[in-house]
Amino acid sequence: MLKIGSLQLANWLIMAPMAGITNLPFRMMVKRMGAALVTTEMISAKGLVLRQERTLTYLKSCAAEKPLSVQLFGSDPAVLRDAAQIAIQRGAEIIDINLGCPVKKVVKTGAGAALLREPRNIENILTAVRKVCTVPLTVKVRAGWRPGSPDVVSVARLIENCGADAITIHPRFAFQGYSGRADWSIIGKLKDTLRIPVIGNGDILRPSDAFNMRKETHCDGVMIGRAAIGNPWIFKQILLMEKGAEPSFPSIEERKSLIMEHFEALSAMVGGGKAARIMRGLLLWYTKGLPFSSNFRGQITAIKDMESLVSTMHTYFSSLEERQS
Ligand SMILES: Cc1cc2nc3c(=O)[nH]c(=O)nc-3n(C[C@H](O)[C@H](O)[C@H](O)COP(=O)(O)O)c2cc1C
Repeated sequence: MLKIGSLQLANWLIMAPMAGITNLPFRMMVKRMGAALVTTEMISAKGLVLRQERTLTYLKSCAAEKPLSVQLFGSDPAVLRDAAQIAIQRGAEIIDINLGCPVKKVVKTGAGAALLREPRNIENILTAVRKVCTVPLTVKVRAGWRPGSPDVVSVARLIENCGADAITIHPRFAFQGYSGRADWSIIGKLKDTLRIPVIGNGDILRPSDAFNMRKETHCDGVMIGRAAIGNPWIFKQILLMEKGAEPSFPSIEERKSLIMEHFEALSAMVGGGKAARIMRGLLLWYTKGLPFSSNFRGQITAIKDMESLVSTMHTYFSSLEERQS
């Protein structure tokens, strides 16, 4: 079983932090599906320290999703230290530092993957945060800024020496974005080098990939990102496979009811109009691979209000149910 610092997790499956996706309603859903740990999307340390209202809302949590890891991004050690304290006061059970985001807006402030070029600042940040961090501290990295930039194994050693309790590695270089394939051999290299738990991430597309990653790299935990968008059932499927059972696929009814639950929770959080816009995007994922889904996707692109979106969705799902019977 995966243990991060003093925190014992129920299994080895972790939901990846994803900006715009891993909000509270989504996290609660994947938690129910079996993810042992969920993470907020990356939160600006500066925004927290300035007590910006919008930034503080990202810390909203509830008992059902616990334990919660809060991911922070920033480049100033003192700001990250203070932000970690705020997050802990508001219930964070793990503090995760983002050393992997390749997005221009983040990198140009010296945060995210830009830090992989600045080992000294990584040390300053982790030393400052570790001093005040009363909960486990984790770090999420990419393979590096680009090949030949400080080697990720030495960066990972530094991270361990600064007192991190676990490291997550998405083995693509920052410049790659999501192109190419995640090089799982790098996960194996970190596992061979470090004493702290290593969590592998990248290109888990189907349940069997999670077992393959663990077998190939001996990683302690597996983090799943894009494959869980529109398919939170992936966690349940992996856990069933682990017990030797066949992974079950959600029925049309089950899929519809989960989408509605997601929709309602989002509406309660951000209001109907905004929830409809977000759900329109998510429905593309939820219906991926279903019969006649391209037709349905075409129908929803222009819809802006929640009522029409829900009724178009019900019509589509009823047609699928009729087809089945
Ligand atoms: C829409 C989106 C938003 C993301 N936001 C974050 C983020 O806030 N913090 C972070 O560390 N990684 C973020 N990531 C990266 C994922 O956590 C993960 O490392 C990456 O998607 C690779 O895993 P996967 O192949 O399972 O998707 C994001 C990825 C996507 C697709």
